[in-house]
Amino acid sequence: MANNKTLEGKIAIVTGSSKGIGRAIALRLAQDGATLVLSARTAADLAKVEAEIKSAGGKATSVAGDLREPAAPAALANAAIVAYGAIDIVVNNAGATKRGDFFALTDADWIDGFALKLLGAVRLTRAAWPQLKARRGSLLNIIGAGGRTPGPEFTIGGSVNGACQSFTKAMADIGIRDGVQVNAINPGRVKTERFQSMIAAETAQHGGDVNAAIQEIVRKLNIVRVGEPEDVANLAAFIVSPQSRYLQGALIDLDGGQTKTI
Ligand SMILES: NC(=O)c1ccc[n+]([C@@H]2O[C@H](COP(=O)([O-])OP(=O)(O)OC[C@H]3O[C@@H](n4cnc5c(N)ncnc54)[C@H](OP(=O)(O)O)[C@@H]3O)[C@@H](O)[C@H]2O)c1
Repeated sequence: MANNKTLEGKIAIVTGSSKGIGRAIALRLAQDGATLVLSARTAADLAKVEAEIKSAGGKATSVAGDLREPAAPAALANAAIVAYGAIDIVVNNAGATKRGDFFALTDADWIDGFALKLLGAVRLTRAAWPQLKARRGSLLNIIGAGGRTPGPEFTIGGSVNGACQSFTKAMADIGIRDGVQVNAINPGRVKTERFQSMIAAETAQHGGDVNAAIQEIVRKLNIVRVGEPEDVANLAAFIVSPQSRYLQGALIDLDGGQTKTI
């Protein structure tokens, strides 16, 4: 990239930015010049990311809160406006859905999955939209490959992701009217803490080592490799940068070739 400060002067909210994909996106947007508003439940984890950004010369503030709470997304948007006076970029990334046998999953598990990833994103989008509209901003949803390709062990996540994809398309249409860029990335398997602990739990149960289990995933899914959080961050930074403004309503599969359908 010729100018590595493509986001100078932009204010960006990234949800779920204390760990994993969200953390990598926040660090990358800060590196590209954006001022970051970090969000997750655990203040101590947010403080570490905030310190990392500041020690690299960037600007950031943290807003701790549970985005499943109906009032939390609007409070996050308000906190961004109070701190920096505007919102240019929103990355809806926070999400955690329970996997497992469909018949063992409860109503509470389903409601919980939708409460964070879909409703958290819906509410933050609604609260931030007037700012995004005024600033000709950019909204990016981090969704997941399971939305296009559902699976029996991932009934909640697949359904939530499908709903988030539909929501992205609808908002992209409204965004054309309002001058807001709206897109989504569907990551495949990405080596975050959650992914690593899932693999560690599986190997503890069935034997074998973690590296062999990862190689087995690569073989079974027929993918080039498992992704790194920085793979998603690189694409996210490109999408929200000024050079991608023609991209609208795109649901981009970033999954090493996992999605085989069109
Ligand atoms: N990793 C993958 O393989 C993969 C694949 C496809 C899609 N995705 C999607 O990518 C997104 C990020 O995944 P990840 O693997 O990076 O997750 P992760 O490492 O588990 O991090 C999740 C982030 O969300 C925050 N969070 C969790 N529950 C929250 C709540 N109720 N309110 C506010 N923040 C909350 C977490 O911090 P606290 O716990 O402190 O709140 C953390 O910052 C998710 O939407 C996930 O579905 C991931």
